Amino acid sequence: MERSLELVRSPKLSPVGPKWYRYYAGFDPGFVADICDALGIEEGGSVLDPWMGSGTTLGVAATRGVEVAGIDLNPAMVVVAKGRLLAADTLSSLEPLGAEILSTAGPAEYPGIDPLRHWLDAESTLWTRGLAQQIRRVLTTGDAWPCDVDDLSSLASFYFVALFEAVTHALRSYGSRNPTWIKRATAYKGAVELSRSQLHSAFTASVKRLAVYLRSARNITPETHDAAVLSTGDSRMMPFDESTFEAIVTSPPYLTRLDYVVGHAPELALLGFDGSDIRTLRDRMIGTPTRKDDDVAGESLGAIAEGLLERVRDHDSYAARSYYEPNFRQYFAGMAKSFDEIERVGKPGASVLLVVQDSRFKDIHIDLAAALTSMGEQRGWTPGSRKDFVNVRSMAQLNKNAHPLARSTKPIESAISFSLPRATGGSA
Ligand SMILES: C[S@@+](CC[C@H](N)C(=O)[O-])C[C@H]1O[C@@H](n2cnc3c(N)ncnc32)[C@H](O)[C@@H]1O
Repeated sequence: MERSLELVRSPKLSPVGPKWYRYYAGFDPGFVADICDALGIEEGGSVLDPWMGSGTTLGVAATRGVEVAGIDLNPAMVVVAKGRLLAADTLSSLEPLGAEILSTAGPAEYPGIDPLRHWLDAESTLWTRGLAQQIRRVLTTGDAWPCDVDDLSSLASFYFVALFEAVTHALRSYGSRNPTWIKRATAYKGAVELSRSQLHSAFTASVKRLAVYLRSARNITPETHDAAVLSTGDSRMMPFDESTFEAIVTSPPYLTRLDYVVGHAPELALLGFDGSDIRTLRDRMIGTPTRKDDDVAGESLGAIAEGLLERVRDHDSYAARSYYEPNFRQYFAGMAKSFDEIERVGKPGASVLLVVQDSRFKDIHIDLAAALTSMGEQRGWTPGSRKDFVNVRSMAQLNKNAHPLARSTKPIESAISFSLPRATGGSA
């Protein structure tokens, strides 16, 4: 049955106003609240976000007493999402505990060359690593690098988010016009100096700001916090049992070859991940600009995706056939595998809500919402209505090499919904 989506607020986080974390792809909490209302997601229900990013869906759903679960391939985003889910009974101790962590933190060495040296000078690196280590000493058991983020509590994650904010703010001179990219210091020249006292004041300010943010959101009960399951994971192979969730509310990666990893390399460095880990992570992302040789044969992509791939393959522009068509096929194959998993872990009849953005390949318009709707329909999912929002920001507008059509048109962000088949095994 067609279900209309009464959505008013736009999916995109406003550039002004308080936010949990600086994240280009972040949802607006008000938009998620509208979705919960539209889909009837309320106390006692369960929601999954298999591409959780900064955890907006889960944070908002948890304040309603909903059981939440989420995964993301990027360990930095798992930490950002977990820190947001702190229960109300911990919020008053955040500042005193932050001060205690700082008062006991000393300088610390990383085994080998510290990945923070891509941006920070030697002394600043020692103090920063020392603070990261102290968060773990006070709040967790492990202290090997890289950090196993699945072992971090929400509380430890909260302080890592504060450290992420303090350090990335100091590194803002390395940013570029592209919000998903950060440069490195060349041969460690021009590295940023972040003195111990600057680091400590920035960390204290971030702890305070984030604590205020969490106190201003509606409270999460200890029971909802304890029931939440957030971890690193791949949407193509989810760590959940069959028929677990009543709703899946999420925003998958888009077909814009956006890099969700490099822009967060400093956060990954703080968690102890170095160059080769980052390369592996980039290769595994759905929608990655790096090409891998995944087995993409045999996936049911739907008529619209197949038609688009054909047009891209036959386009006469450079690398259309050798790079773009295989890269886009890899994207749709990853989405098809993820759809299979969504159907497996969703309860029969569960609601699925996806937010996606359109894009262009040269003069070809890629209506991702239409392509994914046909992918769902092919599996026997019942499509609901679609709601489009014009996005004011666009990566193509920042890219001087983008096709003129892409630079001059504003991207459309679409919310599309489905109901999963009532009987199990409904894949076509
Ligand atoms: C559009 S963002 C989600 C943003 C989120 N709605 C928010 O409010 O922050 C997509 C996310 O998918 C993640 N991702 C990409 N490929 C993945 C995969 N195969 N499995 C799980 N997560 C993946 C990226 O790391 C990124 O955080």
